[in-house]
Amino acid sequence: MGIQDKIKELMAMREKARLGGGEKRIESQHQKGKYTARERIEMLLDDGSFEEFDMFVSHRTVDFGLDKQSYLSDGVITGYGTIDGRLVYVFSQDFTVFGGSLSEMYAQKICKIMDKAMKVGAPVIGINDSGGARIQEGVKSLGGYADIFQRNIMASGVVPQISAIFGPCAGGAVYSPALTDFTVMSKGTSYMFVTGPKVVKTVTNEIVTEEELGGASVHTSKSGVAHFAADNEEEGILIIRKLLSYLPQNNMEDPPKTVCEDPIDRLEDSLNEIIPDNPNKPYDVKDVIFSVVDNSEFLEVQRHYSPNIVIGYAKFNGTSVGIVANQPNYLAGVLDINASRKAARFVRFCDAFNIPIITFVDVPGFLPGTAQEYGGIIIHGAKLLYAYGEATVPKITIILRKAYGGAYDVMSSKHLRGDINYAWPGSEIAVMGPKGAIEVLHAKEASAIENPEEKAKFLKEKEDEYKDKFANPYVAAKYGYIDDVIEPRNTRFRIIRALQMLATKKDVNPPKKHSNLPL
Ligand code: HXC
Repeated sequence: MGIQDKIKELMAMREKARLGGGEKRIESQHQKGKYTARERIEMLLDDGSFEEFDMFVSHRTVDFGLDKQSYLSDGVITGYGTIDGRLVYVFSQDFTVFGGSLSEMYAQKICKIMDKAMKVGAPVIGINDSGGARIQEGVKSLGGYADIFQRNIMASGVVPQISAIFGPCAGGAVYSPALTDFTVMSKGTSYMFVTGPKVVKTVTNEIVTEEELGGASVHTSKSGVAHFAADNEEEGILIIRKLLSYLPQNNMEDPPKTVCEDPIDRLEDSLNEIIPDNPNKPYDVKDVIFSVVDNSEFLEVQRHYSPNIVIGYAKFNGTSVGIVANQPNYLAGVLDINASRKAARFVRFCDAFNIPIITFVDVPGFLPGTAQEYGGIIIHGAKLLYAYGEATVPKITIILRKAYGGAYDVMSSKHLRGDINYAWPGSEIAVMGPKGAIEVLHAKEASAIENPEEKAKFLKEKEDEYKDKFANPYVAAKYGYIDDVIEPRNTRFRIIRALQMLATKKDVNPPKKHSNLPL
């Protein structure tokens, strides 16, 4: 065969590989409202940037008649390319080949790109659409999963890992996405669960659909397993591209800096008015965020899960930051189990990847009650405390209104190595709110007063006294716990100045094998 024929043969093989499980199955994939593995890669990466590995890999199993059934690529497409000109590694599971099920060789292909990503220092994006372990391969498939898990673990905190779930992801297969940093699910076409509806019915008698058990809305609002629910795959892919624009390539680099057209000293007059006079009235902390960040752009993460705390990415003067903010609009911004876990994982991700953390505080404390105590709020609240205390990235805290009790300490306080701690003039920094404090301090005296009017007057006086003393930022400022009390409309400028000042900050934790984070 001459070289021209050999090239023709190569082209024919490539053509065959690109067809995956064949046109019929591709059509069936499209009919389900899903794209194919290759179409997804094309949408994700910059035009023409994809370089594929291992197109000619196929499985080597002979049992169950598999020797007669073999496909080039073996059910997963792997390689590298760029997003906004920056290198990423990608794998995309091909449901048209054995239902995207994972074989020994398939796992090897994924491991190969993960190993490369670790050596080169670039993010890994995995697109999941699979029936799980390839049943015919038995333990080789299970081993393949564990080989991937091990790499997910080693890569954690070294390169960003992002999972898209655009189809089934069931059984142990869910644990690879769970080990990655961010998970995006497509609404209506994806699900994740450890055991499917049939097993659930047999074991617990519960009758649920796949969507009810593990659809995108379940995992982005109830379980917190996923971070983003996209209306469709296109939107899911845009979210991944946007997310990466805030992140560095690896833990040795700083996040990308972009040109900022938004004036750094922009005064936002509305912020002087945003806090209601009545301290029990809510407002939307996202209005504060939108008005101070560059171009009002904020990528919120886990928007529907535990909305009493808001987390996400934004830029200040082109510098990426992670934002954590109590949300007075939902449960008064209280810290509970889910809020603590949500924010703690976010803070740790930012710290691992050199992303400064801006914290907006308006928190009445931890949520009381048996549900929280039985659920272990002590250990979960400690996670957030731990995450802030351990973080060595620049930490800037703005107290907007309430900072009560343990929650004052937890929310990136000076005592947890907060670098810059500012407060707005209406802040109340105290062990507890005035009503609760007076009940504890003056209960006996109040009960001795029989006349209800006199009693109310007495309590009011004591409350006012307490407010004068503690419901302001100046006691904390007096002790240097607050670096300055700032005018709200100037918040953007003050944050940008602080970030500039902290750009070369270095801080270290003592050497240790690893911490014993309260898991
Ligand atoms: C081999 C599989 C497969 C699997 C699907 N296929 N799952 N082949 N191993 N796990 C094949 C089907 O035989 C079929 O082949 C093609 O993929 C498409 O599957 P369909 O069933 O026709 O598709 P659909 O109706 O859309 O249903 C998708 C599905 C279902 C819900 C994923 O296929 C399914 O339930 N599969 C089994 C899921 C499962 O139990 N996996 C093991 C989980 S345990 P043809 O030739 O007809 O196109 C696990 C352990 C991981 O994963 C351990 C890690 C620690």
